[in-house]
Amino acid sequence: MKNDSSVAALADALRTDVRRLNPGERLPSSRALVERHRVSPVTVSRALGLLAAEGLVVTRPGSGAFAAERPPAGGEPADLGWQAVALGDRSVDPAGVAGLLTPAPDGVVALSGGYLHPSLQPARALAAAAARAARRPDAWELPPLGGIPELRAWFARTVGGAVSPADVLITSGGQQSMTTVLRAMLPPGAPVLVESPTYLGVLAVARASGLHPVPVPVDADGVRPGLLAEAFAMSGARAFYCQPSFHNPTGTVLSAERRAKVLDVARAAGAFVIEDDYARHLGIAAPPPPLIAQDAGGRVVHIASLTKATAPSLRIAAVIARGPVAERIRATQLVEEFFPARPLQETLLELVSSPGWARHLRAVRAALRARRDAVRTALARELPELRVNHPAGGLHLWVRLPDGVDDTALAEAALRAGVLVSAGRPFFPAEPPAPHLRISYGTAASEQELAEGVRRLTAVLRS
Ligand SMILES: Cc1ncc(COP(=O)(O)O)c(C=O)c1O
Repeated sequence: MKNDSSVAALADALRTDVRRLNPGERLPSSRALVERHRVSPVTVSRALGLLAAEGLVVTRPGSGAFAAERPPAGGEPADLGWQAVALGDRSVDPAGVAGLLTPAPDGVVALSGGYLHPSLQPARALAAAAARAARRPDAWELPPLGGIPELRAWFARTVGGAVSPADVLITSGGQQSMTTVLRAMLPPGAPVLVESPTYLGVLAVARASGLHPVPVPVDADGVRPGLLAEAFAMSGARAFYCQPSFHNPTGTVLSAERRAKVLDVARAAGAFVIEDDYARHLGIAAPPPPLIAQDAGGRVVHIASLTKATAPSLRIAAVIARGPVAERIRATQLVEEFFPARPLQETLLELVSSPGWARHLRAVRAALRARRDAVRTALARELPELRVNHPAGGLHLWVRLPDGVDDTALAEAALRAGVLVSAGRPFFPAEPPAPHLRISYGTAASEQELAEGVRRLTAVLRS
């Protein structure tokens, strides 16, 4: 984050300098820029790369960077009005997802976001795994379709039950998996049942695919099976998307009794269960086995992503399914994207096969436990009127605000006060029953920063 902002600041300064130069004139050397702007050589090279990509400078290895020829001044802006007519009334709303992926501004404590803070990511192990993967002679060749066999076997073993490597399809991360699965299984216009609240990214995917998310409420034990049965009957839906372990945003784990009931209800409705197991490796307490391990009838389509336990750009996951639905999902992936990049598949395989993998997971779980407890303790001390959940895994606290508080306005005020939190409203497919905040404890730099975040949030709530 800091790095990106220093690159942007240097690029801004250099843009002004370049405009003062004649085409072909040389910019100061990289070393001079490092000294003048007190930044690292990497920052200089990335800022120059940005300007080169914008066509403002030309870099010549060994000689330096030079002001580029200026393009002729543009005339009137083009009239693009015809596009609105050609595109029609369909639109894709990226706001919620973009919010999750936009880093907190400098100086703002990030208590929102979907990934571990870089200090908790296995950066060194990943660099070593990527280096080993890239050295393989076939690293850039076509991968075996369906994914590298050893990686498919690793996912099958991790899930357990009767799952075999042949049931595993390697995919390009959890979000892409949800898109592929929903588009493969359901035609535009179809209903899809979702927990309420649910991960806002699945709402975005469903809506962008022309599907209608139908809410089914969750309580402290997960989704309510009686209401699930009613929702199937009323909507005629053929699929239910859920997160039975460390549900985002509420942190709930579907109880053992309800796991069996959910499968029964889906069976009675002749429907599939799409199980998003996004946080299996972030369990402070071990989660129960996934639903698919309990399913002999090919009813569960399981999505296992590893970005949450590793790093956001290790965009590899698996979809596990059996029977015609597996064929349909495989065919859809092949047609839409061919296959996930082989170097990334190889990198993940190297990482999870290395002796450091278990050590990394132990360290992350211990850090998440300490962070969760620190934030809960601070909230209980400073804001005893809030009801805060006690998640056994994942990255987030789910906080019930007092009635009448506008969670969207509160999150905006918190940002102005220097702390980024998520309003609860976008996690609900329809009207929320009460105001909530999602507070992430895995995204800040340290426990001190978490404490500062709670302090700032307290000041906003008190005012
Ligand atoms: C519940 C859930 N599923 C899936 C994803 C997608 O993650 P990725 O595409 O990085 O695997 C997220 C990310 O926030 C999530 O919270």
